[in-house]
Amino acid sequence: MCGIFGYIGKKNNAPEIVLNGLKSLEYRGYDSWGVALKSLSNNNKIIVRKKTGMIGETNLSSFTDSNIALGHTRWATHGGVTDANAHPHLDCTGQFAIIHNGIIENYYELKQQLLAKHHKLISETDTEVAIHLVEENYINLLSKYTEVSEDKLTKLFIEAVRKSFIQFTGLNAIIVMDLKSHSFVAAKNGSPLVIGKGNGENFLASDAHALSPYTNNVFFMGDDQLVLVTDEQIETFSLLDGHKLTPKFERISWGSSFSSSKGNFAYFMLKEIYDQPKILQTISENHKELINDFVHQIKHSRGTYLVGCGTAAYACLAGTYIFSKIAKRHVNFTVGSEFGYLVDFLSNRSLVIALSQSGETIDVIEALKKAKEKGAQIGALTNVIGSTLYRMADLKIPLSAGVEKAVVSTKAFTAKMAYLYLLAYHLAGKSKLGQQMLMKAVSASEEILSENYQILIKKLIQKIYKKEHLYVIGRGLSYPIALETALKIKESSYMHAEGFAAGELKHGVIALIEKGTPCIAFLPNDDSYGANLAGAMEMKARGGYIIGISYKNHEEFDYYLPINDCGITSAIPSVIIGQLIGYYLAISRKTDPDKPRNLAKSVTVK
Ligand code: AGP
Repeated sequence: MCGIFGYIGKKNNAPEIVLNGLKSLEYRGYDSWGVALKSLSNNNKIIVRKKTGMIGETNLSSFTDSNIALGHTRWATHGGVTDANAHPHLDCTGQFAIIHNGIIENYYELKQQLLAKHHKLISETDTEVAIHLVEENYINLLSKYTEVSEDKLTKLFIEAVRKSFIQFTGLNAIIVMDLKSHSFVAAKNGSPLVIGKGNGENFLASDAHALSPYTNNVFFMGDDQLVLVTDEQIETFSLLDGHKLTPKFERISWGSSFSSSKGNFAYFMLKEIYDQPKILQTISENHKELINDFVHQIKHSRGTYLVGCGTAAYACLAGTYIFSKIAKRHVNFTVGSEFGYLVDFLSNRSLVIALSQSGETIDVIEALKKAKEKGAQIGALTNVIGSTLYRMADLKIPLSAGVEKAVVSTKAFTAKMAYLYLLAYHLAGKSKLGQQMLMKAVSASEEILSENYQILIKKLIQKIYKKEHLYVIGRGLSYPIALETALKIKESSYMHAEGFAAGELKHGVIALIEKGTPCIAFLPNDDSYGANLAGAMEMKARGGYIIGISYKNHEEFDYYLPINDCGITSAIPSVIIGQLIGYYLAISRKTDPDKPRNLAKSVTVK
């Protein structure tokens, strides 16, 4: 969840380099931020600057004599959102600073042991417990020596971090900065950490993309690894017994040509909505090589399971309809957080395909680890090359949608849908038709992104933005679209919105409909139209304000949003309307769709 960035090297503006790195990662967590630095003019203690809220216009350019710094943007998991709880945290002596991603489940027992040894802790966090444990282990190790060389001090630092980290339970990643040895030691067994190798300088980050302005020579730390980083060294060790390992560096090509700046758009979410037609067209033109392995594996597996969370889960659910309708194939779907309880039936003939924009969603990663233990083949559709999911998968498709910075996912969703359509058409032996159908969805989407259409949506928003509840119905392939639309509305605008299978209305949901309740009905031109319209009429009969999203108008609609009929790929322009409704509701309700409260871009803690 958190953003992590560290620098060590020859440049003397390390704090500013780190702060800029954090700004590029702020979408990962933005409750608070902090930077720890060693200033040559203040060599005896680490200086810390940290604060709740976003980084905004803050700068650390006044520090021009610091060549090592460590920063963190926080999504609070342990302890409230306060300046004191922001990372980095220091030990009693001020020699060590730590940043952390994850949850130390046994922090309380460790804290009691430290308090009994008179450590002074000032925050509510498990992270601060960790750095005092490092201090305690370091002092114990040092006490065995009367004289120690610099090299020995570094070795003791490494061992102190290792001994501390293996005492934690839970999934964590930490980076500790040491004033004396002028170095970092990082350790992880869950959340992602990547090391970037420069020329006489080295970097650490939670996301490879943050390194792109400086290097493409990166090493993705594996679980149960420990890394020493100085300006000239990157040495890897086993957490379990400390023996030396060889770090596997790789050159990353940063892929997509889609810029990660928001340009003239007010928010990344709107910019990323507008990116979609070009991304979908690019996928339609360049997918052939990418999907071959999947087509083969799906054909030869006994059971294909789609797994994802949140928006990715709704793409998986849509996949079950797409594969059935187009390829006449049954694929299963389960949300990532539940799949781990269902893996018992998997075998070495099973194929589990995970959909994940970030490739770091812990609920998916943990489920896939269990599936791997069963011998299942793992496939991944993810937008982040080098992510944990990307690296653990046997077969992989990079979505190449460009960095998605808004917490509210949009272009990654339709990119997943595009690949699911193309896979299904390929399996049906109709890959040319698949491209044509996708391009029909692209042109229908371009219509929806026209200026006039925005006026149509904004007029609707003025009618509903003050409402407390909103319901969305769909059937068949528009059912997951209804769920995804409701999620966009919830996440972006905090309006309570629920998506339902239209057929479920009379089984309880319709009790919620009152006079004026806004009800969005997706009515594509398919075999669900009649029954779906009946659902809209049931809500209308109880006073619902019916917003019809369809290829034709109907007298039952109180508000009509037209969609060009593009057959089974109508789900794509439909969801783009849902995204725009979510976005414009956020603007009218004055919320931030890029960084909604309580959310983070990748959920790397359970
Ligand atoms: C999407 O709008 C949400 N922010 C969230 O549901 C997200 O889809 C979910 O956390 C899964 O993320 P992933 O695609 O990176 O795995």
